[in-house]
Amino acid sequence: MKPVNVGICGLGTVGGGTFNVLLRNADEIARRAGRQIIVQQIGARRDNPACNTHGTAITRDIFEVATNPDIDIVVELIGGYDVAFKLVMTAIENGKHVVTANKALIAVHGNEIFEAAQRNNVMVSYEASVAGGIPVVKAIREGLSANSINWLAGIINGTGNFILTEMREKGRDFADVLAEAQALGYAEADPTFDVEGIDAAHKLTILASIAFGIPLQFDKAYTEGISKITAEDVQYAEELGYRIKHLGISRRTENGIELRVHPTLIPEKMLLANVNGVMNAVMVDGDAVGQTLYYGAGAGAEPTASAVVADIVDVVRNLAAENEGRVPPLAFQQDELSSTPV
Ligand code: HSE
Repeated sequence: MKPVNVGICGLGTVGGGTFNVLLRNADEIARRAGRQIIVQQIGARRDNPACNTHGTAITRDIFEVATNPDIDIVVELIGGYDVAFKLVMTAIENGKHVVTANKALIAVHGNEIFEAAQRNNVMVSYEASVAGGIPVVKAIREGLSANSINWLAGIINGTGNFILTEMREKGRDFADVLAEAQALGYAEADPTFDVEGIDAAHKLTILASIAFGIPLQFDKAYTEGISKITAEDVQYAEELGYRIKHLGISRRTENGIELRVHPTLIPEKMLLANVNGVMNAVMVDGDAVGQTLYYGAGAGAEPTASAVVADIVDVVRNLAAENEGRVPPLAFQQDELSSTPV
């Protein structure tokens, strides 16, 4: 069958990770998708030394990717609101399916983007926009689709959790840990988004819209970050048997769906109190299933790439379903299993 052609826009931390994972695991990914996936073109302002892109066409004009007639799926990994919005709308209007890791874009412009996607009969997937590598969007949308969701709460900013953890465990200085989070590729281009709670509010907006079936309403979220937390606050919390965690919380109330992100004191024995470093965790309470917990790396090149590539595979499988009426099972064939070296 003809390969699917992907265009990656943005070759920073996540773009580089996505390119590398697609290349390294190409055979397994092709088996799962049912078709080979080729990176046909990359649109990036600069190269990424962590990627060997030799042999892949690179343009400095990302809009060339969005309008390239040979490309089936545009992967938007440039981040930010405005240029990313124009890029995604251009791709959609040119009949491309879109995969994005951009929470700011989805939280603020998602309603308009989804409407355009429906009009143009293309898919827009955004698993990587929330909680890095944890497939929490799919878990809520698909795994919990039988439930009426009561509430969800989670640690959904890796940089903030990394800072709070290092302050508590090693007594490190806030600014010093933030600089390390930037160097490790965890932080946003503008790290005030991480420390002032804006990034978490973007993600909470997305989760709430899926969990409660409401439009994206970022402007309704109460947003408070961790920038005012001092070493003394962290220490006093510890002495009282609590940990300070930055949580995103959304729940049903008599007045509608509540959305809030802020630092919270959590008893040290609770699961969420023990989610450390760059890890994220989201608890979801559904009327049928009860409480469920999703845990994993919330930021970083390959954890986020894991979710981006899973979305690409999903789009390809959905294309197969549209064209052939049935999605093949996502399992390896018996002969492949027996020939796999142990
Ligand atoms: N800056 C984000 C975080 C990246 O630290 O969680 C992943 O969305």
